[in-house]
This record gives sequence, structure tokens and C-alpha cells, in this order.
Amino acid sequence: VEETLVLVKPDGVARNLTGEILRRIEAKGYQLVDIKLVEASRELLGAHYAEHEGKPFYEPLVEFMESGPIVAIRVAGNGVIEGFRSLAGTTNPTSAAPGTIRGDLGRDWGLKVQQNLVHGSDSVESAQRELGLWFD
Ligand code: GTP
Ligand code: MG
Repeated sequence: VEETLVLVKPDGVARNLTGEILRRIEAKGYQLVDIKLVEASRELLGAHYAEHEGKPFYEPLVEFMESGPIVAIRVAGNGVIEGFRSLAGTTNPTSAAPGTIRGDLGRDWGLKVQQNLVHGSDSVESAQRELGLWFD
């Protein structure tokens, strides 16, 4: 069965939204396979966000992801990679649709688009790579 990596980013953990985000994943019928609270190292974040290295938002993004604990979740289900991204909504919370995690719970923090509560893998290849980084 398909698996994806979901991260509740530091803003989601700090705002006590982990339970609400888990509730939405479970209500959709996906299975929680593994879960842990992580203070991510720069090495892990550099590997996780390697595709964004050199972009203007890369440093602030990594600093934000280092700013507090993250909840990492291995989630399984048919079509869960695309399905979770649909639950999450588009990257910028201001334009994310109501009904989505980012649309319902996220908000604009000026230029800090990186504070968008959750991460979800974007392909089968990314999911395998990212699950290997965050879980043994
Ligand atoms: P993830 O599930 O977190 O990977 O989000 P995504 O796939 O919707 O976005 P993408 O992989 O393109 O970017 C990764 C993360 O970088 C986003 O979730 C944001 O936190 C941040 N990010 C992306 N684009 C921008 C941008 O233009 N400005 C800023 N400040 N942050 C950005
Ligand atoms: Mg992405």
C-alpha cells in the first residue's frame, strides 16, 4: 500500500494543531504507521529540502524548520500521496481553499509563506526518499 511522509511543521506543533491535523488524516481513513517528535538537525533538513537549495526562501525555510519540534508521521493508504496534498491545500495559506488544513488553519504571516503547518511528499520517489531520511 502507498505511504507518504507528513510533517507537522514547528508552527503547527507550537499552535497545538497536531491533534487537529492527525484527526483529519484519520477521518479520511488513512492509517498512521509510525509517528515521532523530532528536533531536526541541519543535516536532515538540508537533505530533506535539497531540491530548494539556492532558492531565496531556502535559508529562512531551514531556519524556520529548526525553530522548534516537528511531528513526523508515516501515513499509509490508497492514493495517500496525492490525497494528503489535497487535504493540505496549496502552498500559500492565503490562497489555500477552505476545507483544507492550510486553508482552514493557516494564515498569511507577511512574507513567511514557509509557515504553512504541514509538509506532504509530492511523488512516490519523494515519499520513499523522505521516509528513508526521517524514519529508519
Ligand atoms: P511541502 O509539502 O512543505 O514540500 O510544500 P509544497 O510542496 O507545497 O511546497 P514546495 O515543496 O514547493 O516548498 C517547500 C516549502 O518551502 C513550502 O511548504 C513552504 O514552506 C516553502 N516555500 C515554498 N515556496 C516559497 C516561497 O516562495 N516563499 C517562501 N517564503 N517559502 C516558500
Ligand atoms: Mg514540496
